[in-house]
Amino acid sequence: PAAPRINPSILAADFVNMEAELARIAAADFVHVDVMDNHFVPNLTFGPQMVERIQATSPIPLDVHLMIADPDRWAPGYAELGAASVTFHLEAATEPVSLARRLRDIGARAGVAVKPATPVEGLFDLLDDFDQILVMTVEPGFGGQSFMSEMMPKLRRLADEAKRRGSSVWLQVDGGIAASTIEQAAEAGADTFVAGSAVFGADDPGRAIAALRETAAR
Ligand code: DX5
Ligand code: ZN
Repeated sequence: PAAPRINPSILAADFVNMEAELARIAAADFVHVDVMDNHFVPNLTFGPQMVERIQATSPIPLDVHLMIADPDRWAPGYAELGAASVTFHLEAATEPVSLARRLRDIGARAGVAVKPATPVEGLFDLLDDFDQILVMTVEPGFGGQSFMSEMMPKLRRLADEAKRRGSSVWLQVDGGIAASTIEQAAEAGADTFVAGSAVFGADDPGRAIAALRETAAR
């Protein structure tokens, strides 16, 4: 299998020192950018203006995670800013397949995310329409929450189905990923790992990224 990807979440970074914070994660595969609208989730981060500046400042490709209502309206704008991937929530989208097609047409990888209570079976027939699927391992909205290991059977069912269909879709997990939890997520079939506090809370984020990658590859 491909080397596991580690995507640090800047939700755990110091927002007023973003340029320096981005320099601390030079070893990352993607920068995970959490966009929240105080509506789909009970928290607010930033929108396209900030993402545009991060895009201009970071040499690392952006993995944008939209926790917003009405992604059908807003998601293509993030792809147009040059994000490498744009992931919207299945629970919020009206026309997920046509939205994915629009994201791909703009040149972004198309991603879809599911909250803990949302089953993955509805995605089985859509695997070819997406480049990545994000299985949330916390309720979206805040960093620093505990990893929900009860999501592992769901992740495994998705991984098994992707394998059965010969799909190359990336399987992402987000929430509570740390040295102590990444192994079970990798074992259940994840290949892409979002980590906020475990990376930005470390004295040496570069070493934390390398250690996570190594543990996931075991
Ligand atoms: C939560 C966000 C996550 C968050 C993860 O809603 O989607 O990306 O930053 O933070 P940690 O790794 O601290 O759980
Ligand atoms: Zn996220």
